[in-house]
Amino acid sequence: MKPTALTDEQLILEDRLYIAGEPDTEMLKNLQAHILKHHGRDYAWHIFLRFDQRTVNDAKEVLKNYCSGLTSAFRQHADAAKHRRDKSYDGGMIKCFYLSASGYEALEYNGLWNPATSEAFCAGMQQRGTILHDPASDTWQEPFQQRIDAMLLIADDTLRNLYDELDRITALFDGKISIVHIQRGEILWDEDEKKGIEHFGYADGVSQPEFLASYVPGKVHSDAASKDILLVSDPGKADNAACQGSFMVFRKLEQNVKDFKEHEEALGALLFPILPKEQEGRGEVAGAYVVGRFENGTPVVKHETALEKNSDPNTMNNDFDYSLDSGGSKCPYHAHIRMTNHRSTPLANMQTVNPAYQPGNRITRRGIPYDEIGRNNDLTWEPENNVGLLFMCFQSSIENGFERMQLNVNTADGIIGNAIDGSFQQWPAPWGNDDVRLCGFSFNKFVTLKGGEYFFAPSIPFLLTLP
Ligand code: HEM
Repeated sequence: MKPTALTDEQLILEDRLYIAGEPDTEMLKNLQAHILKHHGRDYAWHIFLRFDQRTVNDAKEVLKNYCSGLTSAFRQHADAAKHRRDKSYDGGMIKCFYLSASGYEALEYNGLWNPATSEAFCAGMQQRGTILHDPASDTWQEPFQQRIDAMLLIADDTLRNLYDELDRITALFDGKISIVHIQRGEILWDEDEKKGIEHFGYADGVSQPEFLASYVPGKVHSDAASKDILLVSDPGKADNAACQGSFMVFRKLEQNVKDFKEHEEALGALLFPILPKEQEGRGEVAGAYVVGRFENGTPVVKHETALEKNSDPNTMNNDFDYSLDSGGSKCPYHAHIRMTNHRSTPLANMQTVNPAYQPGNRITRRGIPYDEIGRNNDLTWEPENNVGLLFMCFQSSIENGFERMQLNVNTADGIIGNAIDGSFQQWPAPWGNDDVRLCGFSFNKFVTLKGGEYFFAPSIPFLLTLP
């Protein structure tokens, strides 16, 4: 069927691309793209901005003008529906805009946000670093040490288009809004598995909360989620319930691939000393214990070895919980995906790896890798720095979403623990045997925070009515 046969409204309805139970077109037109679904483009540039008090009125005019071209959730989904029907259809560039607490203040919206209800957002990431055990902000990459008022995200499958758009933005903002930093991101592609991966080599973006009616829930574990963990009313448009936004966390996380891979091997060698070298797979299983999935996404709680590529997606998917592994000997409690989504693991068990572990809300991840050293998809080369993940996530509360999660993982998660204490890590040897564990091998510190900020994604109508 060709897309021209249906209007955008009909496409959205037919593909059920609305929040479950609510085919609310007005809301989708007001909401920015990339919140309900990843933009899915190959390249994304993140342009960090600062406003100057002397030119604030000009800045508002310029923003109002630029934001009339932002992509709405409605547009993104209608274009995706057209693309599914006609692969030659290109939805073009995605454009989104986010404000930090200092940005709202600089635009003279003092008092719009209440520190009593949005404490983390109002304080900003640098200040909250002490609670999260983040590296001190004076160790961050220089531009991120500065005040950041806003972030513009432009994403496209064609790099040339991004260069052209940046030229337009630079000309438009000239003398009115300062560009503090441009952070480029691009997808990393595993040609063999035909999957988007992160720099340690693992399929990323597999498990996500799903908000759209089109989503069919799994049998054991359902990803269907309520919009309450994602969206809040936009306080800048408090009079209109169809104006919703979401808090966005941005973190530039550098990955030391060489060190990670060497430790995977070392852990594998300790765990499975009886296996002859040729049978390899040792580092692979060790890595799966760290992440909770094998590189191709196979969940280690269900399978002892990675499934063949092109396996039945039903066995590769997200349809599992940890009730089949209450002892943590198939997927350790401290595995990254178990710590960040315990899926019914009793709280007491999670507290064996972090006594302060508390349930929080799921977050909606929308990140993309970066490569500032020219790895260029060469997965045989393992860089020590200048590659990583531009981690982004959306949520209705930073405290109950990202921060709760980061605090939960801090003591034991081998990927993102900041205050890691390796003694909480216990490695099943062999898989599925509750009695034999390797202790005393600390797997940590392969990811370093280089900077970031807390933002809010306002509704589009708010941005179009800047005074
Ligand atoms: C460089 C840093 C990171 C790397 C390499 C990384 C890697 C991964 C991988 C490979 C997966 C499994 C595939 C998937 O379900 O998408 C995953 C899942 C996940 N990660 Fe991360 N991640 C990083 C940072 C973070 C951070 C900072 C958080 C939040 C504090 C986070 C939260 C999650 C969550 C919630 C899941 C899904 C768990 C589930 O529902 O099963 N990740 N990550």
